[in-house]
This record gives sequence, structure tokens and C-alpha cells, in this order.
Amino acid sequence: MFQDFQACWTPVLPSTALKAAPVGTMLAGEKVVLFRDSQGVARALLDRCPHRGVELSLGSVKDGQLVCPFHGWRFKGDGACGHVPYNPDARLDRLSATALPTHEEGGLLWVYTAPGLEAPDRPYVPEALLRDDVSVFMHHEEWACHWTRAMENMLDFPHLPFVHGRTIGADLKKRLTDSTPMEQRIEPQPYGFTSHTTIEGQPDARLDWMRPNGMTLHISDTGFFLRMHVWCVPTAPNRTRMLLTAVRGFGLYNPLFMLTDRFNLRILREDKAVVESSFPVEVPPPTQEQSVGSDKTTLRFRQWYFSHLKEGSQRAAS
Ligand code: FES
Ligand SMILES: [Fe+2]
Repeated sequence: MFQDFQACWTPVLPSTALKAAPVGTMLAGEKVVLFRDSQGVARALLDRCPHRGVELSLGSVKDGQLVCPFHGWRFKGDGACGHVPYNPDARLDRLSATALPTHEEGGLLWVYTAPGLEAPDRPYVPEALLRDDVSVFMHHEEWACHWTRAMENMLDFPHLPFVHGRTIGADLKKRLTDSTPMEQRIEPQPYGFTSHTTIEGQPDARLDWMRPNGMTLHISDTGFFLRMHVWCVPTAPNRTRMLLTAVRGFGLYNPLFMLTDRFNLRILREDKAVVESSFPVEVPPPTQEQSVGSDKTTLRFRQWYFSHLKEGSQRAAS
């Protein structure tokens, strides 16, 4: 279950996607259903009725319980069966669905990829999403790629002048020559790491990796507040939901600044064709592709993936 993505917190959708009706989604190859219980708390179950395997997301929510569309069995947020029609003697305690730990914060719905009710920790929610003095633009779309290729793209700085030469890489494209040295320094963080890129000895960019599948781009630390977060959420095999949240602390009441939000979308889409063309589809072990010094950040992610997630490597996160 959740192959190569076990025991991870990941956002799956924006909170606004979950209203009164259940929502079915794919997560790392498993069907998952989200719904709100009687308190409005977001809950997640495997999207499979324990009776005859029907998708619970095709059903409805009644009194905070998820009702299967086939024979009307009802399930609570913890997976417990609350009712079986026509069978007053049914042993409800033996008829549970499978719950997954769920969390809602920062305008996002988070799911932990292991069955049960308890996760060992809480998801790391970037500070920008917890502020109330910012505007947040959220968007998600599906890419035909393995999430690891998308993740590496998000952590890759040297592609900016090439893929984004008309947007966020335009300035770099002008400044850099082919022989300009680019160095990267990795700073471990409780949530993953920070990658500092230095060009000709001058600090130039900061990227955060949020284990296992999130990235924060600090577009500027002076003058204005702008952060771009992207999570690469594995859905089906070689399908990835790119979940973008762009946070800005300026122009909050000026609709013109919505153009800034669109700009973030344009940057994201510039990456799509390159990522989807990558072969092999999933990142290979670090020794199986040629790498250079300016690949330090993506290699660090790749090493972590192979030592912690791939084929169920379940060692303590570091
Ligand atoms: S299949 Fe769900 S109640 Fe029968
Ligand atoms: Fe990019």
C-alpha cells in the first residue's frame, strides 16, 4: 500500500475542495476518500467499502458519516461502521473501513500514508501559509510524470536561465556566462533542508525542501513578501498532482496583483514539458545518471529518496 511513498504526510488538495459531499482522490496508487464528519473535521478513509469493495466516494455524507452507495453501510471518521441496514444484529465492530490520519492546516488537506488513526508527527506547514496578512493563490493540476522527477525539477536551480529564460530566469540569463561558477550549500532543517545557491561568491537564491515532496521558493527576502510553494503529490503510477500555493504580502486588495498569481502559474507550466519528457520516468539511483557540482541539491533529495522511501525503506527521517 502506498508503494514507495509510505508513512509520509502530504497535502492532497486545498481545503476548499472539500465541502458537504465526499471527495475521492488517488494517492500513491491508492484510492482515498475525504469527507467532513459531524464536527466539520476532515477525515480520510481508503476508498473501498469493506462489504463489496465499492468506492465510498460515490456515496454521500449523512450526520457526519460516510454512506456507501451500494447497501447503505455507514462509516465514521475513524473508519468504524456506524450502521448496517436490515441487519440489527450485525457485529459493527468487525465491519470497519480503513482510516488514514488526516490534518487540515494552512488551507490544505493533509493525509498520512499509513492506515490507522495516529501518525508519529504532524505535517510541516510553511509559515507563510499560517499568516493572516497575506494573499494566497492555490492551484493544482495533473502532470504525466513520476513525482520524483517533478520534485527534482522544483529543487533544481541551474535550469532557471534555460527553462525560465523569459520569466524568473531572465535576470540570471543576462548575468551568467557559461563559465560563471555556481555553488550550492545544503543546510539541514527539521523539515528537510535549505539549499543556498551562490553565484560568483554572492548569495543568490534560497530553496527549501519540505520532506518528502514539497518546495518553497523564496523569491525575495527584501522589500516584499513572496513565496511559492509546490508539492508534487503522487497520485496514480507516473501521475503527479502539482499543488501550488503562492503567497504574497503586497497588493492584497488590488485585483491587478492577481497577475502576479498568474505569473506563478506560468512559471510552473514552463517546467511541465521538460519534466514529462524525462526518461527513465522515475529518478534512477544517483550513480546511474551523470551529475556535476551544481546538481548537489537534487542529488541530496535523490539520495534521501532511495534510502528512505524507495521500496519501503523505512528508516528514521533525517
Ligand atoms: S458495498 Fe458498501 S455497503 Fe455493500
Ligand atoms: Fe522550473
